[in-house]
Amino acid sequence: MKLLVTGGAGFIGSNFIHYWLKQHPEDNIVNLDVLSYAGNLENHASIEGNKHYRFVKGDITDKEVVFPLVEDADIVVHFAAETHVDRSILDPAVFVRTNVMGTQVLLEAVKEYGTRFHHVSTDEVFGALGPNDPPFNEDTKYDPRSPYSASKAGADHLVRAYYHTYGIPMTISNCSNNYGPYMFPEKMMPLFISNLLEDKKVPVYGDGLQVRDWIHVDDHARGVDFILQKGTIGETYYLGGNAEKKNIDIVKLLLTYLGKDESYIEYVKDRPGHDRRYAIDFSKATRELGWKPEVAFEQGLKEMVEWYVANQEWVARCKSGDYQAYYDEWYNKTLKK
Ligand code: NAD
Ligand code: TYD
Repeated sequence: MKLLVTGGAGFIGSNFIHYWLKQHPEDNIVNLDVLSYAGNLENHASIEGNKHYRFVKGDITDKEVVFPLVEDADIVVHFAAETHVDRSILDPAVFVRTNVMGTQVLLEAVKEYGTRFHHVSTDEVFGALGPNDPPFNEDTKYDPRSPYSASKAGADHLVRAYYHTYGIPMTISNCSNNYGPYMFPEKMMPLFISNLLEDKKVPVYGDGLQVRDWIHVDDHARGVDFILQKGTIGETYYLGGNAEKKNIDIVKLLLTYLGKDESYIEYVKDRPGHDRRYAIDFSKATRELGWKPEVAFEQGLKEMVEWYVANQEWVARCKSGDYQAYYDEWYNKTLKK
């Protein structure tokens, strides 16, 4: 089988490729990635020379690159995206370009060649839950509230529109917050781990009582595998980690793992439009595919911390270049009290 993975140099795409080559060593993978600030070929050092893996540097909005690769693939697994909510607040345009327009270019190619298409999406398209609301489920309406989630919602709608209108063979997964190795240190967990390792404070937005459901990235990769093997064309599956946590409780765990006290917490201004709570009901994936998350949260988090401790040079390289300029702008415009 030939897979075209888009965005395979990012956090989840890298982990997915490692997972896939381990589970399906005879398959061939082409990784199409533009190598934005979040894409990093170092993530694939361990598979360098593997004859089943090939990297192509290119942009998913570029038809000339996308069409021949889709024609040559049996399955497209679409991870490529702009993914950081904070960056989408500073600069929404690139989110629309990549997440909406890039997805549409892929869909045109899929329509042309009839290639199986799996679209990787997020639970953030459903907006925010109140403390006593049931988790997002099949009846939940789309209600995206950040430029990031609106662009992902736009892509989801396009994928479904291409299914209903042109009959493309597609599936979608909406997944909760991922954690694990190779996560770019701008997202909460790796930012906080790396700050603590650098003896810096961690910027907690607002009161820190926001809730996310956390899934280990290996469970997400396995979930996509189950959908590709057993999912029904035209269907959407939700994937979650069964681990609803308040941000502040995660911060406290990280402080404990890294031997720091609460003086390392800096409460900053809240993110504009900050969604209060996400939680997802993944019972359809269990019922129809036999999938459920397997990594226990505290164990997975501990292993993630160990990975970041062992890979501080990788983190330092991520935080070099344009990163500091982005972060200073974000901090000074938005977070500083
Ligand atoms: P990431 O930001 O770590 O990686 C994104 C990758 O896409 C990078 O390698 C980047 O270079 C590449 N890319 C960006 N623009 C591109 C373009 N125009 N053409 C080709 N490649 C491009 O993101 P991630 O966290 O790995 O997320 C992967 C996917 O999973 C995204 O679609 C995201 O919406 C979805 N998702 C993420 C989470 C999460 O917690 N991180 C949760 C649910 C769903
Ligand atoms: P993030 O990792 O950006 O993921 P998302 O917003 O897509 O869920 O943030 C996770 C949670 O952590 C979210 O509630 C925002 C919060 N957060 C902070 O409190 N401080 C930070 O510096 C960051 C990046 C996030």
